[in-house]
Parts: sequence; structure tokens; C-alpha cells
Amino acid sequence: MPDHDSHAEHTAETPMMKTAVSRRGFMQSLGVSAAAASIAGSAAAMTRPSKGASTLDDGTPIIGPGPVELTLKINGEARRLRVDASTTLLEALRLHAGLTGSKEICDRGSCGGCSVLLNGTLVVSCMMLAADAVGAEITTVEGLSRAGKLDPVQEMFIKHDALQCGYCTPGLVVASRWLLNNTPRPNMEQIKHALSGNICRCGTYTNIFNAVLETSGQSPVIDPA
Ligand code: FES
Ligand code: FES
Repeated sequence: MPDHDSHAEHTAETPMMKTAVSRRGFMQSLGVSAAAASIAGSAAAMTRPSKGASTLDDGTPIIGPGPVELTLKINGEARRLRVDASTTLLEALRLHAGLTGSKEICDRGSCGGCSVLLNGTLVVSCMMLAADAVGAEITTVEGLSRAGKLDPVQEMFIKHDALQCGYCTPGLVVASRWLLNNTPRPNMEQIKHALSGNICRCGTYTNIFNAVLETSGQSPVIDPA
């Protein structure tokens, strides 16, 4: 089974989580220049400064505070986006790429509603800058279906009625796909552990677990009734 600490990219390994400060507050406290510095360091090769941007003494471009252009590879497609320096990956996906499957619920890395795969690793997209995803393969819930055919996980979520309001569902589907990519036949303990970063306020866990079990060719072990 995947190391749950990698799922911690999901939940714990961020300054925001450690200090219990919201992402938005974190951004505000750092100021846009810090976000721009991050971009300059991590994505300069694929970004270019907006009109009026200057450079550091060593020639490193200072990107922001105005919009910047960057390219994200989303579901196999290169998408050129114009975003503010402080734009999170979640905001880039939802507001700029038009992919609204990933949900903004807590906006602080606590619920898993915004889960996506980044180079095959599960991450919460509300807790990273879009610029830090430049060069990575991003897979959203929209990218799990192929040629109009749902991913088997999605089919089993439907079969097992593994949702009520549906807000948590995209994140749980992505997290389940991540689990099954790494652990094709997970036992119940492994399923619970892998999905522990995804919160369902409607309490549909029993059906979710059964959907994952049946996707992996195992019989549901809990009677929903
Ligand atoms: S973890 Fe990102 S919206 Fe909750
Ligand atoms: S189905 Fe409503 S939060 Fe999970």
C-alpha cells in the first residue's frame, strides 16, 4: 500500500497545516512578492514575466505581482493559463482551466475535496501554487474517464451509491484511484488508512469502502443496511 506519509502531502507537510493558519492568511502574510519568488525559483523556465516586470541583480526574473503566464499539463493536455502569482493549483484548475471537478471546501488542506494526482502522487491542490505544478503531470477527476468511459472506481461509486451531496466525491474518487494504482487489492484497513485524508460529512464511508473493494475484485464486506 502506498506510504500514508505521501498522502501527507495531502494533510500535514505544509507550513500552513503546522501553524494552523489558513492558506489565504498565509498568502497574505507572505505577500505576493514571496509567492513570486517561489515562482521564480521553481518555474522560471516555463514562465515569463508580465509587462513591467524587472529582474534581480543576477538576472532572475521577478514574476508578479501582476498576472503571469504558465503552462500546466492537465489530463494529458498542455494548458496555457494567465494567473496571478499567488494562484493555487486548485484555483487554476477551477477558475482558469474550467475544470470544476476538484472542489474547494476547507481551502486549508483538511478535507481532501480538492485532491488531484501530481505525477501519480495524491496532493491537495488548495495547498500548492499553480506555478509549482509546472512541468508535472496533473490528473484531475475529469481525467480519470477515457473516451467517455468512466473509470471503474467511478462506476463502483455509482453502483454502491457512495455519495449523498457529492461534494466530497471527486476527491474520494481520485484518492481511491491513487490507492488502487499503488495497491491493487487493498484490505479494509488499507482502504480506511488511504482515504483518511478525505472527509465525507454525509457519512457515506461504508458505501465508499465497498466501492473500492469491488473495484479491486473483492466482495463488499459490510452490509450497508
Ligand atoms: S483540502 Fe483542499 S479544499 Fe479541503
Ligand atoms: S457525500 Fe456529502 S460530503 Fe460526502
